[in-house]
Amino acid sequence: MRRDKITVPRLMEMKRSGKKITMLTAYDYPLAEILDEAGIDILLVGDSLGNVILGYENTIPVTMEDIIHHTKAVSRGVKNALVVSDMPFMSCFSREEALRNAGRLIQAGAEAVKLEGGLAFEDKIRALTEVGIPVMGHVGLMPQSIHQMGGYKVQGRTPEAAKKILNDAKAVERVGAFSIVLEGMPSNLAKKITEELKIPTIGIGAGAHCDGQVLVTHDLLGFYDFAPRFVKRYANLRKVILEASKEYKKEVEEGTFPTDRHIY
Ligand code: KIV
Repeated sequence: MRRDKITVPRLMEMKRSGKKITMLTAYDYPLAEILDEAGIDILLVGDSLGNVILGYENTIPVTMEDIIHHTKAVSRGVKNALVVSDMPFMSCFSREEALRNAGRLIQAGAEAVKLEGGLAFEDKIRALTEVGIPVMGHVGLMPQSIHQMGGYKVQGRTPEAAKKILNDAKAVERVGAFSIVLEGMPSNLAKKITEELKIPTIGIGAGAHCDGQVLVTHDLLGFYDFAPRFVKRYANLRKVILEASKEYKKEVEEGTFPTDRHIY
């Protein structure tokens, strides 16, 4: 299947034409290659790699070096998808740091960066877009702020909280972001934001009205016994990998693998 390269203008065009945008996380070469072949529009080198790849409890310990390392691997596996890399915790502390760190991600192979935060990050987002680095915003439930939010809780349930998220989303658009992730919020709030913004919204745990959807790939492929309620599991790779590796162990131990056919 031949596909065209996904670009920032193309994503804006998809919003205008009503074509849903698909985004998944990717952290390594083989999965990036497969997801790209499947036609996924955007591959996010998310700081969720802290949870699903590095075994941390949350995304806070993830460093610039971690994201750079995984961005290099993902970008080598991609032909058509847009590669977006997360700005990890405290990597946008100042405008200068945001510029320096985003620049490092672009040099590692990212085509855009994603950063968590609204109004408070206006100056950083503006600085990045002014030098030609496309920015994806991220509002609502922001995993880098779990200590402030008191855990992974749906945001924007009260009218005041909903208004703040809407204002954050508008600020992100105003300063030049090309799209925005809406995470963990009521579906009617995500719908309102989607209707009021010109840039595409990508939802996760935010209902069906966004311009696109994103999931953590390891959740949808079923690598772990636990998955959040908003996830749909499309496969149970944990079971497949467990069964395959047990079968290998059994065959090596009983001497049925390798046979004479399995030679170099
Ligand atoms: O890090 C990540 O995977 C994300 C998505 C959940 C949007 O930020």
